[in-house]
Amino acid sequence: MKKNFYITTPIYYASGRLHIGSSSTTLFCDTLKRYKKSMGYDTRFMTGMDEHGQKVEKKAMSKGLTPKEFTDNLATNAKNLWKYLDCDYDYFVRTTDENHIKQVQEVFETMLKNGDIYLGSYDGLYCVECETFFSQSEVGEEKLCPDCGRPVQIVKEPSYFFKLSKYQDKLLEFINSHPDFIEPEGKKNEVVAFIKQGLQDLSVSRSTFKWGIEIPSDPKHVIYVWLDALFNYLTALNFLEDDKSLYEKYWLNSEVVHVVAKDILRFHAIFWPIFLMSINVPINFKLFAHNWVLMYGDKMSKSKGNVIFPKTFVERYGSDAFRYYMLREFPVLSDTVCTPEDFISRYNTDLVNDYGNLVSRTISMAAKYFDSKVKKNSFTNEFIDDLKKVENETIKLYHEDMNSYRLDKALSDINKLVSRTNKLIDETMPWALYKDEKMDELEAVIYALLDSIRVITTLYIPFLINSSKIVFKALGTQEGCIKDLVPYEIDEYNVSKLESPLFPRENDIKKATDEIVESMAYELTQEA
Ligand code: MSP
Repeated sequence: MKKNFYITTPIYYASGRLHIGSSSTTLFCDTLKRYKKSMGYDTRFMTGMDEHGQKVEKKAMSKGLTPKEFTDNLATNAKNLWKYLDCDYDYFVRTTDENHIKQVQEVFETMLKNGDIYLGSYDGLYCVECETFFSQSEVGEEKLCPDCGRPVQIVKEPSYFFKLSKYQDKLLEFINSHPDFIEPEGKKNEVVAFIKQGLQDLSVSRSTFKWGIEIPSDPKHVIYVWLDALFNYLTALNFLEDDKSLYEKYWLNSEVVHVVAKDILRFHAIFWPIFLMSINVPINFKLFAHNWVLMYGDKMSKSKGNVIFPKTFVERYGSDAFRYYMLREFPVLSDTVCTPEDFISRYNTDLVNDYGNLVSRTISMAAKYFDSKVKKNSFTNEFIDDLKKVENETIKLYHEDMNSYRLDKALSDINKLVSRTNKLIDETMPWALYKDEKMDELEAVIYALLDSIRVITTLYIPFLINSSKIVFKALGTQEGCIKDLVPYEIDEYNVSKLESPLFPRENDIKKATDEIVESMAYELTQEA
């Protein structure tokens, strides 16, 4: 039977333009989906937009639009952005979708009926930007949000509450008995410590603004935006609709991964499993929690002027280069600081010098020495043998990395193979072999180089969407298959020249950096 794989990004707030930080999560999911698909899994990759709540209502009003008009524009922009970055999502969920609304209402009424939700009155502090309630001790004397630093609001209104406290022990038990529920390990420890401090009942409705999902049995209230949003992962599988085939396939019988950044881990590691316990749905997912992409050492924000949008990089260097950089530097264990200089340096080193150069040099040599046709022969030497060994080791490591969601490591391992392959040129000096007319040896070396490029490019398929296709065309082979990748299985290469360099070099780093900074400033002035 085919194995199933369901991967999701958080659904992004419909409150502004998506920057490189949010894009990194989507690229991460897209790449993993492509990998799993090529390994024979039946995959579903979902992203979407979180459209309700006070923050969205306020932003829409400030632009003189209805919330729906405002979010329609942003959802279109998000879809265009993912297309521009070659993200092959299978479904784009919006919390304003009718079937999402209907299913969330049903969930809320079930929780009310089973006694997990009760009506009370909320008297406390709320950060509209983060859509989060805080206690007095969390906001301090100055009443500032501990997450974003903005002033919090005093909220006093009737509200429904969810009995989080009732599930505290059950959740701890679940986390203990499912050691890989939250990865990486360090993030899990933070969550456990937080739960052990004691969970307060959670306010799950608001009654002083309108932009949300109405509670059918009490339409003065709208459902708290996080309860609404978290259920996207299931409503998009129609889990409460008549046709439950998607739900059965991608939830009940699937590997399910929610990829989230550290700021929203608590919602996913505490509220989400508890909500599922409340309505008796199996907690069948894993969380992969990552850190942030910082720009010039700080969290990106418009007011700090350090936001960078994907277009700035993609326009100059193409979407493959952008994907490569974001995934090579993906903030798994700690925050990553992104700067234009750093981007250009990675681009020039890894893609231009190491990979791009290897491909163009090898193809030129194949054309020059063998009229573009290079056959496998029986000659070998210690260098060729060593390269083969490294290829096999890299393939093994790559699968381990990809299956533990360490795409950054997978890229670093491929890069080592690229270096090892380049070294073969220095070790064997093909031009000298040609001069000495050692054609058997020369053909074995060029074959080894071409074949290693095929191995490397096959491993790059989920990352470098366009360039991998160009390289396979130049090698004269079909697009490789990651699952069945074996070195030395092609009998003959019939190569053709690249029409233009795979990755053109950035020669003037200072000038390029200045232009990128200028373009950042310009993009900041553009509307969402
Ligand atoms: N709408 C909620 C999520 C609801 S999911 C049921 C939300 N949206 S968000 O737009 O504020 O951010 C969502 C995600 O964007 C983060 O978890 C993260 O995946 C990504 N990132 C936003 N800024 C980021 C960085 N600077 N760096 C890395 N990821 C970042 O929270």
